[in-house]
Amino acid sequence: MLLQVLGTAAGGGLPQWNCACPGCAGARAHPHRRRRHASLAVRVDDHRWYVVNAGPDLTDQIEAAPALHPGPRLRETPVAGVVLTDAELDHTLGIARLREARTGVEVWATPPVRHALLNGLRLGDVLGPYTPLEWRELGPGPHPLGDTVEVSALPISAKRPRYAHALPPQPGAPGDAADDLSWVVALLLHEPSTGARAVYAPALAAWPDALAKAVEDADCVLVDGTFWDDDEPVHTGISPRTATAMGHLPIDGPDGTARRLTGIRGRCLYTHLNNTNPLTDPDAAEHTRLAALGLEVAAERMVIEI
Ligand code: MLT
Ligand code: MN
Ligand code: ZN
Repeated sequence: MLLQVLGTAAGGGLPQWNCACPGCAGARAHPHRRRRHASLAVRVDDHRWYVVNAGPDLTDQIEAAPALHPGPRLRETPVAGVVLTDAELDHTLGIARLREARTGVEVWATPPVRHALLNGLRLGDVLGPYTPLEWRELGPGPHPLGDTVEVSALPISAKRPRYAHALPPQPGAPGDAADDLSWVVALLLHEPSTGARAVYAPALAAWPDALAKAVEDADCVLVDGTFWDDDEPVHTGISPRTATAMGHLPIDGPDGTARRLTGIRGRCLYTHLNNTNPLTDPDAAEHTRLAALGLEVAAERMVIEI
C-alpha cells in the first residue's frame, strides 16, 4: 500500500496567519518547518488516489505531490475522491476547492458528517451549480476504494464541529443522535492482496477497544499529535480548555497516547500537530523523548510504503 502524506498540521496550519507563538514565528523564520493542514492520499490502483480529509490547502498539496497531478488528457485527474474522518473545517473546506471537478466529487462520510456538511455548511447547495457531490456512506465496512484498498470506519467520539453544535435534527435521518460516536472516526485502510494495514486517526478524543485492536494489527499508524500534553492549550494561552476537553488525547502524560503506542508492531507517526506543540521545533527535546520510545513525527510530503 502506498500512502502520500499531504499535510501534518492541525487547524490553522504552521504558521497560522494570526499567530505569533514560538512555533508560528519559528516557521516564518525557517520555512522548512512549515506544515500544511493534515491530509493523506492513499493509492487505490495504478493511477488513482483517494484523499483522506480535504483541508483548505488541498490544491497546493496536490501541486506538491506529482503522483496527484492531472493528465495526460486535459481534465483527467488521479484524485478519485475524498474520505472524511469528521466534519471539522480543517478537514472539509478543501472539498469546495474541488469545484472544478468534471463529473462530481465522490465523498465518503459517516451519516453525521454528511448531515453537518449538507445542513451546516450547506455544501451541497453551494457546490451543486458547479459539480455534484456524490455521497458514499462510510461505516464499519469494509468498503472497497478502487481496486486494491478497503476502508473501514472505527467510531471514536460524538464531538461535533462548532458550526454544527446547534444544527436542528432531521427527524428520522441518521446522524442526529447526540451520542452518535461516528461524528469522529478513525480509518482502517487495508490492502487485501498484500495484507498491509494502516490506521489514520487525526482526532482522538478517546481510545476505544476497536481502535486499540486496529492499532495492534497495523503496519503503520498515523495518529493525533495535536498537543504534546494535556495542559498545552491552557499554558500557551490559546484556550481555557485542556487538550482532552478539546477532543484530542495528548501525546505525553499518564493518559497520553505515547504510552499506548510504545511497543506496537507497526510504525507510528504523529500528525495533525497544533502550532503550539513543541514538536513543531525540530530541535525540541520532545523529539528525543519520542525517538527513545520508537515513535515518529510525520514529515510533510513523506511517502510511506507498507
Ligand atoms: C480540532 O481538530 O479539534 C478542530 O479542528 C478544532 C477547530 O477547528 O475548531
Ligand atoms: Mn483539527
Ligand atoms: Zn502559533
